Order: sequence, then C-alpha cells, then structure tokens
Amino acid sequence: MSDLAETILGRIRDVPDYPKPGVVFKDITPLLGDHGAFAAVVDALADGLDVDKVVGIEARGFILAAPVAYTAGAGFVPIRKKGKLPAAAHEASYDLEYGSAVIEVHRDAFAPGDRVLIVDDVLATGGTARAAVELVGRAGAEVVAVSVLMELAFLKGRERLSGVDVRTLVVV
Ligand code: PRP
Repeated sequence: MSDLAETILGRIRDVPDYPKPGVVFKDITPLLGDHGAFAAVVDALADGLDVDKVVGIEARGFILAAPVAYTAGAGFVPIRKKGKLPAAAHEASYDLEYGSAVIEVHRDAFAPGDRVLIVDDVLATGGTARAAVELVGRAGAEVVAVSVLMELAFLKGRERLSGVDVRTLVVV
C-alpha cells in the first residue's frame, strides 16, 4: 500500500449505524484535521490535471474541491442540493445509498468547452457523480475526470460512470 493510501486509511473513521442502522459512515474529519494529510490529499487530487474549473459536490465535496481548485489554478464551481443556488440552474435527480435527491448547477457556471474536474469525498453507488457529470455536460463543459478520495468498490459506483476517467486515492 502506498504511503498516501496508508495516511488516508489511518485517518478515516468508520461510524456504524449512521445515518441509519446498517450503514457504516466513512467520517473524514480526522483526515481533514491533520494538516499534512489534508495537504497531501489535495495535492494528489490536483496532480497532473490541466483544467479550467473544479466542481465540488455539496457538502463534503466542497471541502476538498475548493483547495484543489486553488492548487490547480482553476476556478471553483459548486454543485448544490436543490434550492440552494440563487440564479438559474440545471437540475438532475439521482438515487443515494440512503434516499434520493436533486442537485443543481448554475446555467452560466462554465464557459463553453471548459475543461472540468469533478471532486467528491466518496464514490459509493455512483449516483451523485453520474448526476454531476450530466449537469456539467448540460451546462456546456467537458468532464476531464472525476476524482474522489475514497471509492467503496462493493457498491460498484464505477459501473455507472462508464466513459468517464474515474480516479480514486483509496479503494475500500
Ligand atoms: C455523500 C458523499 C457523496 C455521495 C456518494 O454525500 O459525500 O457526495 O454521498 O454517494 P453515491 O455515490 O451513492 O451517490 P451526501 O449526499 O451524503 O451529502 P453530504 O456530503 O451533504 O453529507
């Protein structure tokens, strides 16, 4: 296992039965609270990518995507849960590991043909990332890659993202 993977896995806390019985929640707050580990993760997520915009998915995706945008020399674009963006937006619905939701992006968030990196903390069923890819496309930009901190392989989210360059720092 790489040093980075070891650093990440050692700082993610499993919380059983949250937010409901039977779900094991992956809590990234111990990782975020460690400057060295947080910086290493941000650098790894930004590594080798030439993009115009970095998209963060509400809420935990914001925490990672904003410093990745800064590091990559790109702008930051939020994808938010329905009703939170003030201007005209595209919306997409998706199923979650627990429940369902609608996410939105501002219609004018991208210049035509912008190269975009989508960042989130966890890839689980892939529904959120799939909807984010759809939104970026509908807003006229090109998804270069989806980068996540952690992939939960047993939920097969990658299968819902065929044709997309999916990068993950750790797979569990
Ligand atoms: C979590 C996580 C990803 C998504 C992954 O977010 O941060 O965005 O679920 O799940 P999926 O691959 O099955 O779609 P959540 O919707 O819980 O929102 P939060 O970050 O606001 O807690």
